[in-house]
Amino acid sequence: MSIDFKALAKQYGTPLFVYDFDYMTKQYNELKDAFSGVKSLIAYAVKANSNLSVISHFGKLGSGADCVSIGEVQRALSAGIDNYKIIFSGVGKRDDEIKDALEANILMLNLESEAEMRHVESVAKREGKVARISIRVNPNVDPKTHPYISTGLHENKFGVEIDMAKRMYIYAKNSKWLDPVGIHFHIGSQLTELSPIKEAVEIIANLVRSLKAINIDIRFFDVGGGLGVVYDKESLINTYEYAETIKEATKDLDVTIVCEPGRFLTANGGWLITSVLYEKVNGDKRFVIVDAAMNDLIRPSLYKAYHKVELLDNENTKESLKADIVGPICESGDWLAKDLLLPPTKSGDLIVIHSAGAYGFTMASNYNTRGRAAEVACEGGKCRKIRDRENFEDQIRLEKAYL
Ligand code: LLP
Repeated sequence: MSIDFKALAKQYGTPLFVYDFDYMTKQYNELKDAFSGVKSLIAYAVKANSNLSVISHFGKLGSGADCVSIGEVQRALSAGIDNYKIIFSGVGKRDDEIKDALEANILMLNLESEAEMRHVESVAKREGKVARISIRVNPNVDPKTHPYISTGLHENKFGVEIDMAKRMYIYAKNSKWLDPVGIHFHIGSQLTELSPIKEAVEIIANLVRSLKAINIDIRFFDVGGGLGVVYDKESLINTYEYAETIKEATKDLDVTIVCEPGRFLTANGGWLITSVLYEKVNGDKRFVIVDAAMNDLIRPSLYKAYHKVELLDNENTKESLKADIVGPICESGDWLAKDLLLPPTKSGDLIVIHSAGAYGFTMASNYNTRGRAAEVACEGGKCRKIRDRENFEDQIRLEKAYL
């Protein structure tokens, strides 16, 4: 759908996140369809965009949830995701989080170390519950993505080596309190090449075969998330080929394929709308100062990530000159775009930052005591607010009593 950003900015103010739920539906269906013919579960990676309405939208399409904290598990449950479609991952789960996850009777806890397995076992024993588990295996393949979002090499903190995984599976199989039902890997995010995924899938499928040979019956084959999207001019992995590669490598295994996309489902279904405050020139450098900042969208500052930036309603491209788009935060790193060719702007002009549906709002903070932006969802030609703008009272609520 074409979204009237100007009308939304007028109605809800800026900075404002706007999401296109129809786009998210289309992405979900494309991936789900690619896995047709085999048992599959799409478990939306809640960390990409954890607004309750976004999670609920995917839940209604049949999605599960991949969560990395008990908070995310609670969000998924509150948004109506079925407990048996929820996976709880992450390298550092606390005992109270483990206990709550067991109580919620989720599909499985994804374990990332032997020490964690012992904790899960003892909490399960204390609670008198059997913990369904999967183990995150680190296949040691190079995903060829940004080092900060690469996770499948031994030098990363994630997962366990194959030999250790085997030992853990054998231990779990023999434990009264652990039920090893799944296997998991996730080699990185914003992947644009299929070959590392193929390599990893084959390594993990072989491991499943060797586990089945010793009666450890893995039923969920979790390939993680990571499918890349276009921010600029990236060439992408074809969804159909991605699914075919996974199906081919696992065809003899009788497993349910679990896939945990975050960015693929939401990134290009979201925009951050911001208003120009002022322009200024320092020496040779032109700055366009806007009302959104690194606390709203940290990806440019943190990863030097590119987000397409568009000035609305300004046809005067002849006079375009290079400018940096910066926010009001007291940090030189507070920028949203650099060296962008932009016509002269005036206070109140609207700028749209693209690809902000994933890792935008979820990575936002209150730095500089800035309230986090409001969020709006559009679906079937209609838009509605799905989160209020945070105000000052919201921000001081937990401090006020101690003054
Ligand atoms: N599953 C696991 C175990 C993960 O660690 C992640 C992402 C996903 C699924 C979802 O990955 P996706 O499909 O979204 O690529 N803040 C960074 C991205 C960090 C991703 C961390 N893990 C960014 O803004 O690029």
